[in-house]
Amino acid sequence: MLVTTLGRMCGIIGYVGASSAEDVVLAGLRRMEYRGYDSAGIALVTADGLAIAKKAGKLANLEKVLADQPLPPATTGVGHTRWATHGPPVDRNAHPHISDDGKVAVVHNGIIENFAALRSELERQGVELSSDTDTEVVAHLLAGAYDSSTEPATDRFAAAMRAVCLRLEGAFTLVAIHTDHPGQVVGARRNSPLVAGIGEGAGEYFLGSDVSAFIAHTRDALELGQDQVVTLDVEHGIAVTDLAGTSLQPRRFHVDWSAAAAEKGGYPWFMLKEIDEQPAAIADTLRGRLADTGQIVLDEVRLSDEDLRDIDKVFIVACGTSNHAAMVSKYAIEHWTRLPCEVELASEFRYRDPVLDRSTLVIAISQSGETMDTLMALRHAKDQRARVLAICNTNGSTIPRESDAVLYTRAGPEVAVASTKAFLAQLAACYLVALYLAQARGTKYADEIATIVAQLNKLPDAVAETLGRMDQVRAIGRELAKEPTILFVGRHVGYPVALEGALKLKELAYIHAEGFAAGELKHGYISLIEQGTPVVAVVPARGRNSVHSKVISNIQEIRARGAKTIVIAADGDDEVAPYADHLIHVPKTPTLLAPVLTTIPMQVLACEIADTRGLDVDQPRNLAKSVTVE
Ligand code: G6P
Repeated sequence: MLVTTLGRMCGIIGYVGASSAEDVVLAGLRRMEYRGYDSAGIALVTADGLAIAKKAGKLANLEKVLADQPLPPATTGVGHTRWATHGPPVDRNAHPHISDDGKVAVVHNGIIENFAALRSELERQGVELSSDTDTEVVAHLLAGAYDSSTEPATDRFAAAMRAVCLRLEGAFTLVAIHTDHPGQVVGARRNSPLVAGIGEGAGEYFLGSDVSAFIAHTRDALELGQDQVVTLDVEHGIAVTDLAGTSLQPRRFHVDWSAAAAEKGGYPWFMLKEIDEQPAAIADTLRGRLADTGQIVLDEVRLSDEDLRDIDKVFIVACGTSNHAAMVSKYAIEHWTRLPCEVELASEFRYRDPVLDRSTLVIAISQSGETMDTLMALRHAKDQRARVLAICNTNGSTIPRESDAVLYTRAGPEVAVASTKAFLAQLAACYLVALYLAQARGTKYADEIATIVAQLNKLPDAVAETLGRMDQVRAIGRELAKEPTILFVGRHVGYPVALEGALKLKELAYIHAEGFAAGELKHGYISLIEQGTPVVAVVPARGRNSVHSKVISNIQEIRARGAKTIVIAADGDDEVAPYADHLIHVPKTPTLLAPVLTTIPMQVLACEIADTRGLDVDQPRNLAKSVTVE
């Protein structure tokens, strides 16, 4: 028997209301497909019991099945789009999974760690399991725990869900339907994301892994916490309890994204649209937070100035692209606040026993607010009594909810798996946090802060201007599309930009790419350079203590060894021209802020190369946008 834990990190939706559940669920899955695209499935409660369709592969495969064999009408349903970590993404393992009595359908995101024991128990009872998944166990357990004498009847299915959750170990979001409760959807969560949406019409409710699942229908949502069970009932509304059945009052919040923001809006790829949205992402993130007096206003930061003055060390934890934002912000925090600052990959942080105490500030950066590695790092920091500040793009997600303070980036929904506008918004937020710390700790005078604020306020226009110059980069992308290896180098804040450029290219174009600090070339990397090897280099601004001339020397060294150099430099900086096969200019901006501009050609380059290679830019193979497993 193949025993796997499938369906670990997925998009989930549940719906009750008056509309066609099939239409609502499919539209929600389309918006959440970035969470996983190994299989998709839907289950509805119809007049004749459950109706189910599921198919391996992208959502389009399921849509084809449904076009050929439409499901009967229904107004209650659940759906799932899956990202698998082990085992084959075949039809039988696609969600939803059904109980042996045919009454319960369940979708799941997470890992049920004790599923082998539960599976053996079910097999001993004679239950025949038809998939390799941990999820199917839950469907059978729900049917077994369901007691038709529980009162009130409206709580019967939720009571079964609570009983089952108490038996489960691991991480899960579960959303389920039952044929005896045609107007209900029941959900539960532990360590995996789930939010509820309150429809505009009476008796219409949603559950989703994130708000994009239901953003087309409502922007009013409820936060659901750890070990909570939620019932959507077309007649009785939403009820939330803990696992003991005690009723809870969840926090209501309003999503300020529009439904259109989660659509492609005429672009061939979400990523292209999101790259173009960067001026607004930065402007929105800065808006209202920079007073003309030079004071930084961060209303959402619930740490007192006294708390901030106590801090003697900063750690920033994050993964992937967010980690590159963290690396840039280290330079700003140390320079502006004189506080020591370390950047850690969230997945490494808690395993090396970092030295943390009440005087440590841990900043967690996450677009989704659900990345499990980052969440676990944050919890570890809190256990050690450190103060935790989240920089996050997703309202109602777990990481900001569990932090002492939060600064939201306002990039709007990011759908393409490779992060672009969220990254630039994170940089803006990091500068704000660094200035805020400098202000609270008195390491910068108000007029100095005002000068930087004025520079920050120019960034949206500078980003727009950079975007207007990208035809040149697209042409370079087409030229490089067949290269087997592309290298990226930079120094100081250009180093994380080089890492981000290499990551984008790996993610999107499946080309071997490495980013490294230009100073390290001579210590080994230079041996990778052959005749014609493309190297993308970021030249820092000239200035006091600048490594400008050092980077130019590095570029000369690699050019002398045959590299094809693609150089990104500030307007007016032509010193490097003799050593550049392609010279890309971006507007001049202070060194620490430059990554906001120098990253853009990297994004466009990766996108163009992937597109030229005929790849799916928005949904690269093997990846998922929100990684809710460790
Ligand atoms: C995944 C995504 C990346 C992202 C990283 C961190 O790996 O593919 O694009 O940077 O997760 O995600 P977060 O939501 O925590 O920023």
